[in-house]
Amino acid sequence: MAIKNVGVIGCGLMGGGIVQVSAQAGFQVLFVEANDELVKRGLAKLRETLEGLVAKGKLDAKAKDDALARMAGTTRLDDLKSCDLVVEAMTENQALKNETFAKLDRICPPHAILATNTSSCNVTAMAAATRRPGQVLGLHFFNPVPLMKLVEVVRTILTDEATVKAATDWVSAVGKTPVQAKDSTAFIVNRLLVPYLLDAIRVYEGGLATLEDIDAAMKLGCGYPMGPFTLLDLVGLDTTMYVAEVMFEEFREPRYAPPPLLKRMVMAGQLGRKTGKGFYTYAAR
Ligand code: 3HC
Repeated sequence: MAIKNVGVIGCGLMGGGIVQVSAQAGFQVLFVEANDELVKRGLAKLRETLEGLVAKGKLDAKAKDDALARMAGTTRLDDLKSCDLVVEAMTENQALKNETFAKLDRICPPHAILATNTSSCNVTAMAAATRRPGQVLGLHFFNPVPLMKLVEVVRTILTDEATVKAATDWVSAVGKTPVQAKDSTAFIVNRLLVPYLLDAIRVYEGGLATLEDIDAAMKLGCGYPMGPFTLLDLVGLDTTMYVAEVMFEEFREPRYAPPPLLKRMVMAGQLGRKTGKGFYTYAAR
């Protein structure tokens, strides 16, 4: 089955990135947002990003125009009726995702693959909400999507081999490197990354060193591109706490429990770059 038309649900940080890389790779992409204002904002942001790349000489003007011509937005899930692949990138809410998958199953053509970009929800539950569980899987992209090379291809015990193959080929076609993982909470990257980020908060809370020194130590001592607090601010403290809570709920291991400081910063609305303040303070854009 050749994938030509791609649907993306959500055009936020992750969804917008998925729209961008798919359109740049030559796929026709239609994204769904909750209202007209968000559709307009999503398209404007994508245009601004691509124009920025042209200004930097990283993309030619024709490639930008072609990519923009291949993307469109809508507020109606029903408009995904011609998609060969839909990637859901909504907020992390299991009930909402299950309900959306049941709707997609009724709307999309019988051959369509339904994928989720979830980092912590249960993919099997989404598959079980459809009448095509063999054609449901996870395609987990990383933030920032256009720059991060990896996609975790997540199979449930119900996913067909042909679905895994078609989705893996599509991941390669959008320029990413696929790795395969089972549908087990947090998959590969977050299973290892989240306890590391939580430990960084614990050692900081314990007074071991300053934020800046912990970040510098992990960057320069381990060759990581960012220290843990810079990364926490990039990922979002709310997202990290949510993933940690789901992991703690699933595995009941103390190392996945969100530390008190993380909880309090989330309560205080200090969520990282997106709110202008997290562990560090960011100038308003
Ligand atoms: N499309 C294409 N190119 C883009 C772009 C876009 N939307 N936005 C920026 N770029 C280009 C820039 O033009 C820039 O090019 P230039 O250097 O030639 O000007 C280039 O990409 C790099 O930009 P930066 O200078 O910002 O990049 P850095 O070298 O500082 O690297 C980084 C940034 C890739 C984010 C790097 O710091 C990194 O890898 N950090 C770690 C990120 C990480 O770990 N992410 C995973 C988070 S976990 C997650 O997502 C899971 C979730 O489930 C929680």
